[in-house]
Amino acid sequence: LCVSRTDNNAYTLSIPDRGASCQISSTIGAHLTSWKVNDHEMIFLSERADLTGRIPIRGGIPLCFPQFSKFGPYPQSHGFARNLTGAWRFERAYNEGVPQGFNDPCVVLVLSLTGPLDTPRVSTPYPHPFVLTMTFRLYATRIALSARVDNPSPEPLAFGFAYHPYFRVEEATQVGVRGLQGVRYKDQLVAGPEGEATQAGELLTVDREVDRIYRGAPERVVLEDLRTHAAFLAVERRNISDLVVWNPWVEKSKTMKDFQPEEYHKMICIEPAQVDLVQCAPGGSWEGQMVLSRL
Ligand code: BG6
Repeated sequence: LCVSRTDNNAYTLSIPDRGASCQISSTIGAHLTSWKVNDHEMIFLSERADLTGRIPIRGGIPLCFPQFSKFGPYPQSHGFARNLTGAWRFERAYNEGVPQGFNDPCVVLVLSLTGPLDTPRVSTPYPHPFVLTMTFRLYATRIALSARVDNPSPEPLAFGFAYHPYFRVEEATQVGVRGLQGVRYKDQLVAGPEGEATQAGELLTVDREVDRIYRGAPERVVLEDLRTHAAFLAVERRNISDLVVWNPWVEKSKTMKDFQPEEYHKMICIEPAQVDLVQCAPGGSWEGQMVLSRL
């Protein structure tokens, strides 16, 4: 098990004998840009991703804070945390061994971000004190991300949060998300009450632009290969209310400067998202987790 750091403060966690590794930038957000299991890349990163921090990285696992999309008072969609440059702090890295060897050992990296944040760090100042602590745990076939928000101030703190993983797939039209049947969702592409619907089929497949917020989805959904009917990835969330599924498809892809038009074939986002704001009491804290498992 090991952790190494590059010159530009990206951390690589690895379990070499299992071909497991992940890479996390601490210069641009606390952004995971790669996760490999058995030397196989699980995460999509656009060939046109901007890695300067001027705009968020297209791909990987962006962290949305203090809100998901436009669901909150902050003017920037998905908040500021995902592309803050040089603001995330290294806390610690260590191996978490298991004495009896019955369970999986893992490699751990902890990064933190502290507010309030002022210009020029953020375009619109964020005057609220907070500490957002991210813990990344790499196991042989899993990765667990844990976000903890502490509110050190005497005022309540309201915020949203989302993990926005881009999963790499061979062909987006040949995968399906299982676990959402019967779950209510808001179709973000249809305004008003007509956008409210219930997932009908067992599998959510991608054959057009998909942008849906599933409310009250089960804690675990899986991504399945339609050709083999085998599930190859599980997405679990804890203490996070919603699940968003997104693929930009043809037209939206063309409008994204940091995305190759054909790349929508190669990705699907399944995002554990706390859309309604958490109300965190003075001195209180909140924690929300995402666990990804290669099946
Ligand atoms: C998803 C949203 O979470 O993120 C979509 O549901 C949005 O509406 C997508 O288009 C990408 O957002 P951005 O800000 O990274 O382009």
